[in-house]
Amino acid sequence: MAFPERRLRRLRRTPALRRLVAETRLGVDDLVAPLFVREGISEPQPIASLPGVVQHTRESLRKEVAELADLGVPGVILFGVPATKDEEGSGAWAPDAIVQLALADLRAEVGDALVLIADLCVDEYTTHGHCGVLTEAGEVDNDATLQIYARAALAQAEAGADIVAPSGMMDGQVAAIRAALDGAQRESTAILAYAAKYASALYGPFRDAVDVQIAGGGDRRGYQQDPANARESLAEVRADIAEGADLVMVKPALAYLDVIAATRAEVDVPVAAYHVSGEYSMIKAAAERGWIDGPAVALEHLTAVKRAGADIILTYFAKELAPVIGR
Ligand code: PBG
Repeated sequence: MAFPERRLRRLRRTPALRRLVAETRLGVDDLVAPLFVREGISEPQPIASLPGVVQHTRESLRKEVAELADLGVPGVILFGVPATKDEEGSGAWAPDAIVQLALADLRAEVGDALVLIADLCVDEYTTHGHCGVLTEAGEVDNDATLQIYARAALAQAEAGADIVAPSGMMDGQVAAIRAALDGAQRESTAILAYAAKYASALYGPFRDAVDVQIAGGGDRRGYQQDPANARESLAEVRADIAEGADLVMVKPALAYLDVIAATRAEVDVPVAAYHVSGEYSMIKAAAERGWIDGPAVALEHLTAVKRAGADIILTYFAKELAPVIGR
């Protein structure tokens, strides 16, 4: 009788055996919940393309964050939706802007029990929807934008953010923000750099969540990375760490597992991955039709992201999965 050299199935026989030999363990400690807070509304607003996610009022946000803290989720990342937008995105840096008010609320609500991360960009706050201010020719002006990012970082740190997370993909953004924070005695505010961020079609539902339309049907290919390229991710990651990033992020997650793995192999700082809005919505939509088992697919996705090397996963599934996966 032919006898296989190694019986690989032996260790798959029972749930306990599988648990014992699992290489990758997804836990609630790995998760960060993205949250939206909108100015000028009295009730939370559902987001059609992100089922189960809402634009919060300041009050409902406080409640949500207290619940997340109770579930053991260690961090949230906050995005603001202003009542009015302008050319330079003053809603990103004004001390009384919605995101700053909300950060202060949350600091008061949860103290240090939960890490408060502030997304640092201007696209939610600009009339044209780009991640920076524009030149007269309509191009995103890298260096003028850095000055605005520096102001936003200070406002967010002042309001209570533990970590600021620049997501605009301007060159030199981490250095500019680090210098501004240090210059204002904010040495303890950390920077999570969206280091390898791709010009992805998977951000569609997010743009509904923050009411962003890019002027003239434009896109972000002039500053976010081309999905065809992996090697420049490492250049981005190295540059951000050299400029002072405390953590680095790859975004989106599932279509860029190779980039997550390469980043993990390259650096010693914590690596985050953003399982983005489109990744969430695809699972929700297919599950709604009964075509897939939504929570099972979500777990499989997030496990794969962790297996690829991410230490931290930003995911709209955080609240739903926290009770399922445990510590
Ligand atoms: C920029 C930003 C975006 C996302 C996070 N930060 C949108 C973009 O770059 O166009 C997308 C997140 C998601 O799709 O869930 N402020």
